[in-house]
Amino acid sequence: MDIKKVLVADAVDNACIELLKKYSIEVDCKYKLSKEQLVQEIKNYDAIVVRSDTKVTAEVIQAGKRMKVIGRAGAGVDNIDVNAATANNVIVLNTPGGNAISACELTCSLITNLARNVTPASASLKAGRWDRKLYSGHELSGKTLAIIGLGRIGREVALRMQAWGMTTIGFDPIVSAEEAKQFNTEFLPLEQIWPRADYITVHTPLIPATRNLINQKVLNSCKKGIRIINVARGGIINESDLLAAIKSGQCGGAGIDVFEQEPPTDPVTLELIAQDKVVATPHLGASTGEAQIRVAVEVSEQIIALTGKSKDYT
Ligand code: NAD
Ligand code: MLT
Repeated sequence: MDIKKVLVADAVDNACIELLKKYSIEVDCKYKLSKEQLVQEIKNYDAIVVRSDTKVTAEVIQAGKRMKVIGRAGAGVDNIDVNAATANNVIVLNTPGGNAISACELTCSLITNLARNVTPASASLKAGRWDRKLYSGHELSGKTLAIIGLGRIGREVALRMQAWGMTTIGFDPIVSAEEAKQFNTEFLPLEQIWPRADYITVHTPLIPATRNLINQKVLNSCKKGIRIINVARGGIINESDLLAAIKSGQCGGAGIDVFEQEPPTDPVTLELIAQDKVVATPHLGASTGEAQIRVAVEVSEQIIALTGKSKDYT
């Protein structure tokens, strides 16, 4: 495949650019392009590399008359219109797994943070207060963690949180009870999961079956004080239902890395983020040096492979 010129439209690690150039592929980095600018620019490129900020819509794909490849330096491809890409014979590449450990570790840190009120207690101390009683927490040992989506990230979370003494239960439509047992997780149908969990963490893609998966009905079938974590995709948890549950005390706290709209501007999302019981991060799951180098190299290697140039070409 003839790939001469690549547009890098989101900030990916320099390793991606270096590697493409090493294989004589011309690379332009143009970040934060408006939709209109992207539609114009894409006409000049054989491939585009993105993270999650740039939306590769049907309009962009149709405008990209020379475009043969869309490379996603990350796991989720929900910012790419995959159907439009297929209809226009454009290959969509991603790098599943390259950032799984980083996303897993952020999930674990949100769980431990919620248990001990680390973020609000730190903010209170910085504001000059000494509120030891207010920020007393609970042990994770002996608590139950429900993992919805037992793929790459979900099962890594299970293994790490078991080391903290948590019991892990979970559900995934393509994982059997036998397979879940291999990572010490009890496989259960969703309706049996909700009343047993102390913490719920979601690790699914955002697809019609998972949109609003955690909603008012689900939150009400959980134990009072349930904690919710989302390092997967905004939209899996219904933000207004979660906000209501936090305000009523039904939900005891939430750790949220991803939002329905990013960056968030919706008043409900902003109110959710502002809650004391919410620890929120700006889509940082994959934001580690290690993960970014891995996904940058993986995406460029796949593009190079498509050109037919051998890996040891210099
Ligand atoms: P994966 O494909 O390995 O695992 C996802 C699992 O979800 C699969 O096993 C799938 O069968 C399961 N699933 C699908 N529908 C389901 C349903 N209705 N109920 C329960 N499970 C269901 O993906 P992964 O690499 O583990 O990534 C999980 C999610 O995390 C993705 O949405 C990905 O985009 C996101 N992610 C976010 C960040 C971040 O920066 N916050 C970083 C990496 C990945
Ligand atoms: C992913 O799906 O891999 C994440 O959203 C990572 C990213 O921030 O690119």
